[in-house]
Parts: sequence; structure tokens; C-alpha cells
Amino acid sequence: MNLVSEEHKQVLGLQVPTDPRWVNMTQISVADILTDHAYCEQKAALTCISLIQTYSECFEMVRALSPIVTEEWGHFRAVLAELDKRKLPLGIQRKDLYVNELKKFEQKPGGRLERLAERLIMFALIEARSCERFRLLALYVADEHLRQFYHKFMVAEAGHYRLMIDLAEQYSSKEKVAKRWQEYLDYEAEVMKNMELRSDRIH
Ligand SMILES: [Fe+2]
Ligand SMILES: [Fe+2]
Repeated sequence: MNLVSEEHKQVLGLQVPTDPRWVNMTQISVADILTDHAYCEQKAALTCISLIQTYSECFEMVRALSPIVTEEWGHFRAVLAELDKRKLPLGIQRKDLYVNELKKFEQKPGGRLERLAERLIMFALIEARSCERFRLLALYVADEHLRQFYHKFMVAEAGHYRLMIDLAEQYSSKEKVAKRWQEYLDYEAEVMKNMELRSDRIH
């Protein structure tokens, strides 16, 4: 069974679908997934704040990412509420192996705006993969309420992926972004193939 539909692959660009075994594993570790997810949302909010602080002169980006900070923090609070309902602690933040692997691929081009575009492209990729994982949870997790819960996240993260690409194009060029995006997708495909399948992580 291919869990990334062709349509979804075209929208997100991802080269490698998540191993179908991941979602089966997920059904038995909702607590771990919620904890990991909670930290993912915090990190998304933090990334937006960091970009706003570092590139404060980029008018459009600052205006576009400011509401996303609120939205990502809202996501964190929604996940926290799910933990609370289950009387589960927030838990401990784990090492983000996926993001650490992606960071190894990050270039530091000479131009300030090119560096911003590079960061936005990586951000877009993390959002795209998160979106794919949330889709799987929305489809296959045992708990009916959690399926609906994850459907909302899938929709939100798809929007963020698109926004980050649009912003990157604004501060670089369509052509450069398309080229670099493809390089990231190819690299991410290798990262995915080599990463251990973990039931306790979103990535
Ligand atoms: Fe989010
Ligand atoms: Fe997001």
C-alpha cells in the first residue's frame, strides 16, 4: 500500500513515502507521539521568531510569519490539551535527528537574503514532511478523535509549506528556489531511507 498518494506527492514534492509500518507502530505509542509533536510545534514557533529577529528588515516575511508564531503556539497548546486529557506529562524533549540531518545540508550563501531563502526552504521541507505524517495519522490512527485532530494539523502544515516556499521565492528567485528545493528533496529522500523507523517520533 502506498501511503503517499500520487496527488499528495505532487503537492508536497516528497520523494520517499513514509514506511507504512510507522503508523502501525504509532497506534501503540500515542503518548510518545504527542510529546514529540508538542516539541515540534514549539520549534516551529521558535523558528519563526528566530527568522523575524534575524531578518527584521524583511517587511513581508516579518508580517507573514508573525501570525504563524501564534498559530504554531496554538498548535502546541492543542497538543498539550490532548496530553492533559490523558493525564500525561509533557515529557522530555528528544534529540531531533531528522532536523539535525537536514541541517548538515544547509548552505550559507554569501548574500543575506539568499541565506534567508535557504532557511525558508528547509523550513518548508520540515512542514511538508510533517504534513505527510499528520495525513497518515489522520487516516490510520485508531482513535477517531485523534484522526480528526490530525486532519486539522495536516491542512495547517500544508499551508505553511506553501507559505515558506512563496517567501523564499520573494527573497531569492523562482528558479533558484526550484533548483535548491529539488536538491533538498533528493537529500531528504536519502535521510529518510537511512533513518531508523521510530514509533515515538513525528519524524
Ligand atoms: Fe504546527
Ligand atoms: Fe507549521
